[in-house]
Amino acid sequence: MESNSDIKPTPKGFHCALCNVNLPNMPSLDQHVKGRKHQTLSTVRSTRKTQEEHSVFVSGIKPHISQADIAEHFQQFGPVTDVIVDKDKGVFAIVQFSEPEGLQAALSLVEHQVKGLKVRVKPREKKEFKLIPKKRNDYQNLQRLLDRLKPELCQLVSVDAQMQCVVERSQLGENEKKARGLLVQLLQEVFVEFFPDSQILPFGSSVNTFGIHSCDLDLFLDLENTKVFQAHAKCTAEQAVEGTSEDGRSEDSILSDIDLSTASPAEVLDLVAAILKRCVPSVHKVHVVGSARLPVVKFHHRELNLQGDITINNRLALRNTRFLQLCSGTEDRLRPLVYTIRYWAKQKQLAGNPSGAGPLLNNYALTLLIIFYLQNCEPPVLPTVDQLKHMACEEEECVIEGWNCTFPSQPIAVPRSKNTQDLCSLLSGFFSFYAKFDFASSVISVREGRALPITAFLSRNKEEEAMQEEPSTKTPHHGPKLAPLNLLDPFELSHNVAGNLNERSQRCFQRECQEAEKYCRSLQYQRKSTKGKSWGLVRLFTPQGQVAHAKSEAPTISIPFKSASLPEVLRNQLHMAGEGFRLLWFQKVCAAVEEVLKSVLRCHLAHSDADAVFGEDSAVHAVEEMETTPTSLNTSLNDSWDSVEPKNEGSSKVGGKRQLSSSSDASVSPQGKKPRLAIKTRRDFPHWICVQKHMVWAGRRKVRRELIKDTDSRPEGSCVEMESQVTARIIDKEPKLKEPLEFTVQPQMVGGTEITRAVLILEPTSDRAAVFSDFFHFLEAFLPKMVETLIEKETGNV
Ligand code: UTP
Repeated sequence: MESNSDIKPTPKGFHCALCNVNLPNMPSLDQHVKGRKHQTLSTVRSTRKTQEEHSVFVSGIKPHISQADIAEHFQQFGPVTDVIVDKDKGVFAIVQFSEPEGLQAALSLVEHQVKGLKVRVKPREKKEFKLIPKKRNDYQNLQRLLDRLKPELCQLVSVDAQMQCVVERSQLGENEKKARGLLVQLLQEVFVEFFPDSQILPFGSSVNTFGIHSCDLDLFLDLENTKVFQAHAKCTAEQAVEGTSEDGRSEDSILSDIDLSTASPAEVLDLVAAILKRCVPSVHKVHVVGSARLPVVKFHHRELNLQGDITINNRLALRNTRFLQLCSGTEDRLRPLVYTIRYWAKQKQLAGNPSGAGPLLNNYALTLLIIFYLQNCEPPVLPTVDQLKHMACEEEECVIEGWNCTFPSQPIAVPRSKNTQDLCSLLSGFFSFYAKFDFASSVISVREGRALPITAFLSRNKEEEAMQEEPSTKTPHHGPKLAPLNLLDPFELSHNVAGNLNERSQRCFQRECQEAEKYCRSLQYQRKSTKGKSWGLVRLFTPQGQVAHAKSEAPTISIPFKSASLPEVLRNQLHMAGEGFRLLWFQKVCAAVEEVLKSVLRCHLAHSDADAVFGEDSAVHAVEEMETTPTSLNTSLNDSWDSVEPKNEGSSKVGGKRQLSSSSDASVSPQGKKPRLAIKTRRDFPHWICVQKHMVWAGRRKVRRELIKDTDSRPEGSCVEMESQVTARIIDKEPKLKEPLEFTVQPQMVGGTEITRAVLILEPTSDRAAVFSDFFHFLEAFLPKMVETLIEKETGNV
């Protein structure tokens, strides 16, 4: 499949002409050639080539000639596998034969007549297969828009005015809305022909009041009534005239080929794709994405330059679109905030997965994060979804797939907020709020307007009971997929709308919030520059990568609390520990760190004495009562540890009264005041004094390879044993360091108003061989991985 002619050597390595990428060396070239992109393009190219070699181009067709007429004519030369007629004008077609002989026979005939009409037949043009770069790059488009906006924004008098300007310049215009409406109408007319009584309904950014120029057109094809129609037609089929249902509508359609009550979504979507391809003018690039959480048919509308998505079984999305409409109708400040934060997130590459799937936030999730923040302002800017439910009247009650989706239909039913903050301070408050948010230990509930402790979700059974708000007649609801950022859908409570985020994207989101928070405290954010310099939003929208991030100087290794990847047994233990879960987890981490240092890396360990252990930091007062040494960290959870953990209010409030996540010290100021440190949850623990006499970090890969080859000494069991043997072999074979390396490791637990994690502070006390830096870089990657493996091994085997 792979063609070597695609690869050309260059002065800096290699260039793959097929994928248009440069590769610096042989291993990366090798990886690229085996990779998905190269393999897919190779396959597409060879399929195209086969198609070209098996098909002819027919021109001079007139509208009265049908696809079937063309197929019938060309069948005489050999079996025809496909006939594609251009649906916009219907003047040419491509006829594909299953064998090249058919093609040769068709080309050898001088004159072709289809239904008496003379048509021209010629071989397909041989086009060189090239990767066409995507025309529309959202990021570049946005950059262009912002570049145009920049001078205008700088001229305005306040951040509030800048935010309003961003909305005005980017929102969907009346004509754009009309054009979208017409396309929806056209699709409705086409689909109803094939699916009687069906409805095509827009949702998402086109209609939720947050749409921007060229945003996607999300559509829901509602086939409920078609199913009823089909069932009815089936019942009456015996009595009715063949092919005609009782109400006279023809059933001689695509519907006769499919039973909607049993067909899979993929089968229905294939039909939808076929209809789009063949019957809707200007629609092209139609394809089904079956792997998405909700399978979807994607298409592009050429004239409107519009990307469209059609889903089925997506009634909840219609309802949550109504919810977003209600929120922006209730609160005027929401739209400027959403537009501004979406631009900021896009510029910082935190949101907007280019191909739909990816590890970044989607716009819906980002909007919910903004709503959640506004619910937690003091006083709240927006009510919780539970509060909205109580504001609705009886007729507005709504349950979809077992989920309660009740809220008032009109904004007038929602009392106005007492919060009078301006946009400028609400925006900086958003950054402060999430800069300190403890994502690791919280599940964000827009429904309740508070952060729920993650422990409630760690044990599956409990979580599933809690999730099941209403007994459903449909499939049972499972708990949400836990991820580094947990944000529950306001209605489908088993869906984590940020479940696609990985550690990195969550960390980047929080880090950018921290950066933005810092910037919002500066005068450059709050005041117009008298010298015509960039200020306010303009600087906030600086693309990611153009602002240098201050790197921490301290040699620390961070081991994050990853709820999603913990073994089941530990998840249950943490669930039982309730508010003391952090400490229990931290114990396990400390025990594992000690194990790695002592047994895997063969450091000589000594514990510091009790006085040195606790020092004078007030943060450790709570711990002082526990008389804990690292060796006792292996023991099970001491009850007294629970009692010192701050009470989890399970709620977050901006501005003081209710607290942020689980720490009682979380004080977040929307005005951007410096946060107080979460001293009660930042605990210092006894530290280890370590001595390393060998360069156990050097050449490990080679030794590992040798061990794997050498079957006699190949260690059994997990990679922990393997790594211990690697160390042992290095110690056996390699000379000792001239001077041993001595260093200390001080573990700290961080949580509450900061991301829950264990932080190890490493400090060399004697490094005459100047090896600490190498050892530290090795540990940075090795230690967190090993700790995770050990915890899994220990708790997994319980
Ligand atoms: P998007 O995230 O695409 O948001 O979700 P958007 O506002 O439409 O932004 P663009 O312009 O298309 O990028 C579209 C809709 O899909 C539903 C929501 O109704 C949302 O408005 N959705 C999305 C969900 O119901 N759940 C999800 O997890 C994601």
